[in-house]
Amino acid sequence: MADDYGDESGPAMITGRHGDKRRDDDPLDQVQAGNRLWWESTPMSYDWRGETELVPLSLEWYEEQDRRSAEVHRHFATDRVPFDRLIPYEALRDKEVLEIGTGSGFHAELLARAGARVTGIDLTESATERTSKRFELKGLPGSFERWDAEQDRAEFEGRFAFVWSWGVVHHSARTARIVRNIARWTTEDGAFAGMVYHRDSTAALVALVRDWLIRGNLLEHSLDEALWRGTDGYTARFYPADQWRDLLLGFFSDASVRVTGHETDAVPLPRGLRRKVAPRVSAGLKARILARAGGFVTFRADRPLWAGPA
Ligand SMILES: C[S@@+](CC[C@H](N)C(=O)[O-])C[C@H]1O[C@@H](n2cnc3c(N)ncnc32)[C@H](O)[C@@H]1O
Repeated sequence: MADDYGDESGPAMITGRHGDKRRDDDPLDQVQAGNRLWWESTPMSYDWRGETELVPLSLEWYEEQDRRSAEVHRHFATDRVPFDRLIPYEALRDKEVLEIGTGSGFHAELLARAGARVTGIDLTESATERTSKRFELKGLPGSFERWDAEQDRAEFEGRFAFVWSWGVVHHSARTARIVRNIARWTTEDGAFAGMVYHRDSTAALVALVRDWLIRGNLLEHSLDEALWRGTDGYTARFYPADQWRDLLLGFFSDASVRVTGHETDAVPLPRGLRRKVAPRVSAGLKARILARAGGFVTFRADRPLWAGPA
């Protein structure tokens, strides 16, 4: 039962892709080494059930990955262009934009096609290669390299009008340090937007039930450890929306957050049962559940504090 939650439209966090996981008391350098190793050996994929037979890094494979990503995010992140409810494409033309944690380069391509001058960093060689290859195949301009966003970078200082990071910074050992760096790297009137995992979510509840009750680890694992054991990556923090906003406000003048998630978060049942129940749940109720208990906190933070009050 434990691995029956995910499906082709389900979040990676409850598909049961579990490798080695962080322990609560691991030193943070070790956590970050584990983080890198995990993503090098398990690069981000939107083919959650391993269905595709396309050759990785071929043009057809990128198109298939993009189709899957656009589809699973469609109901909350897309109007016409994928993620246009969250990325201000029109304002980014000719602007310097940074993506942190590029994965296979889906978002980086969208930013480049909007006319932004895109720089991308990722902790892993595998993601850097996937993103660079995508841009090469499609003849797009962009600059990509392996870099840990926890590490400051002098030539990034005050440079980017927009920093984007989707599903990345909560996987790092020192998330707050990344937010500090991003604030340093944005222009005076720059912004940082993206998504982190949401603690008050049905997805977190499912992970807790599985780890604490079904697997019997209630006395062994802290709440945090139970959560990151139930998700993708070597480690992951789950934030109450207000606490994520509070962290952003430590480094930016203004910040807003919104709870949302994959449609499967609205009916968090094993796949077979969900297929029967989901059609009976009204669209209005699903929307209310997602706004209260979806698996994602999407956010936007404006104007780094170093630039002084607006
Ligand atoms: C869940 S994937 C998301 C990829 C992409 N943003 C997407 O939505 O498809 C997380 C990515 O973040 C990268 N990552 C994790 N920690 C990082 C860090 N400290 N600095 C840069 N990249 C990091 C991983 O290597 C991995 O490629």
